[in-house]
Amino acid sequence: MSNDTWSAVDSYFTDLLVQADPAQDAALEAIKAAGLPPISVSPTQGKLLHLLARMHRARKVLEIGTLGGYSTIWLARALPADGSVITLEADPRHAEIARANIARAGISHVVDVRLGPAIDTLRRLEAEGAAPFDLIFIDADKPSTPEYFGWALQLSRPGSLIIVDNIVRNGAIVDPASRDESVQGMRRFMSMLASEPRVSATAIQTVGAKGYDGFALAVVSSRL
Ligand code: SAH
Ligand code: DHB
Ligand code: MG
Repeated sequence: MSNDTWSAVDSYFTDLLVQADPAQDAALEAIKAAGLPPISVSPTQGKLLHLLARMHRARKVLEIGTLGGYSTIWLARALPADGSVITLEADPRHAEIARANIARAGISHVVDVRLGPAIDTLRRLEAEGAAPFDLIFIDADKPSTPEYFGWALQLSRPGSLIIVDNIVRNGAIVDPASRDESVQGMRRFMSMLASEPRVSATAIQTVGAKGYDGFALAVVSSRL
């Protein structure tokens, strides 16, 4: 079994189940043309985020890690008319491309791209009283995932859904001796998740167009 097979099956599912959306396709094109890294969620993963947001009837979404706004558009398209997404991005070029992609998708009034290191913006969001969020998607710099998860709890309510991308990293997550800071960050996050009494969680491995990785899913049950 190889990456080629995983990609072929992913394309097969995408062709069958993920409706072509010109704005989504244009967003991916713009991300590629600008030389941004090819690390947006895949189409099938984007649709999963979209379906989870719909199933959850999410109205307020927080995303940590925007890149070109591809996952942002999937989430925004899941919301009711009065819904909103706040998405956090540290890189001005990424934010600029995301804003253009979001404008092309006709959802600038739904999405607020906040430029700056996520930790600073999270602090500000709390001060502004922007919480609680119904769904929080964590997908930024991996070493900071434990801190982002702490903030996600802080900005949630009982019932909030927290999704964390990239927890498997080709299997490296099970290596306690890994020298990869991203892996160590994810391992710290996983032990936090395991010992956090306020959530009920699971973790899922995935293969597909983005190789072998996975995500964690947690529902907040109560707050301290
Ligand atoms: N969610 C996107 C992919 C995000 S890639 C999608 O699936 O379409 C991760 C993004 O996090 C990158 O754009 C990177 O610039 C951003 N990032 C990295 N460190 C950050 C930080 N400290 N604060 C906010 N964003 C950060
Ligand atoms: C990387 C980041 C991601 O968010 C992702 O989905 C895949 C890879 C990375 O930084 O390598
Ligand atoms: Mg990711």
